[in-house]
Amino acid sequence: METVVSGIRSTGNLHLGNYFGAVTNFLKMQRENNCFFFIADYHALTTHPKPDDLHGNIRQVLAEYLACGIDPDTATVFIQSDVPEVTELYLLLNMNAYVGELQRTASFKEKVRKQPDNVNAGLLTYPVLMAADIIIHRANKVPVGKDQEQHLEMTRRFARRFNTMYGVEYFPEPDAYNFGKQLLKIPGLDGTGKMGKSEGNGVFLADTPAEIRKKVMRAVSDEGPKTPNEKPSEPVQNLFTIMSAVSDPSTVKFFTDKHAACEIRYGDMKKQLAEDIIKVTEPIRERINEILADKKYMAKVVAEGAEKARASAAKTVREVREIIGYKPF
Ligand code: TRP
Repeated sequence: METVVSGIRSTGNLHLGNYFGAVTNFLKMQRENNCFFFIADYHALTTHPKPDDLHGNIRQVLAEYLACGIDPDTATVFIQSDVPEVTELYLLLNMNAYVGELQRTASFKEKVRKQPDNVNAGLLTYPVLMAADIIIHRANKVPVGKDQEQHLEMTRRFARRFNTMYGVEYFPEPDAYNFGKQLLKIPGLDGTGKMGKSEGNGVFLADTPAEIRKKVMRAVSDEGPKTPNEKPSEPVQNLFTIMSAVSDPSTVKFFTDKHAACEIRYGDMKKQLAEDIIKVTEPIRERINEILADKKYMAKVVAEGAEKARASAAKTVREVREIIGYKPF
């Protein structure tokens, strides 16, 4: 069995794009691999969240992933900051991470541009912490999106550098596990581009049916097809794409045919789309609320996850210390 590690940032709520993109793949992976899924709440500190927000966000994200079906009895589900071993490995790896290469990282350069008032050292060493997260469980596969590929390349480099430096074959070099074409890209409701957390174009799993109806009815469309069999415009195609993820194929065909015949009424299509989205999200939303209300359950999941993650992490740190040359007196 291969070991899979993936970190989830504790910012923002999950939306349909996350659900049909990343989460459904986590669900598949957890059955076939030794999976570690964690909330990256040390990483969250780079943007200086307020203490109350930090905890609330962690709870929310954890509840959402559990509600989607991440199974803490199958995968190891934990909170990063419950595993202090990761900070020790991070320190050790920092000794072999060079300032130059960290400064050249695309995500760091972007942060420098976007938040010039808060260019902290945690941002600079973000990829080292991420590498520690991954190799502390000696993972082989890391399911991440394109935006994380450079970080993963650095993880491989840090792992290789450690092995070379000490003449060992200790850390595997993990591969990005990119679901490629299997990944469904869900567009936003604003006519163009992907659904995002902060673009204001998303439907969140935690949205109420009323909120979903309102958002979908307001989605950008167009003035309607002028000639038979016309290719749908981008905003309308986006609605069809979302529909193909949540609705019956017969429903999609019904509206596709109506569009081709220039008889489509977008109001009807949106009404149907909203109801079909709600069919997917409503059971999840109810489950999110149940989980959030069940403090005992959440505490148990977190405690058990921490214990499993720490056992795996502590073993690695013990072995790494030995390799580096720390010896008992
Ligand atoms: N950097 C990742 C992101 O922004 C989150 C993350 C932290 C992560 N540690 C990780 C992802 C380890 C995969 C493995 O999405």
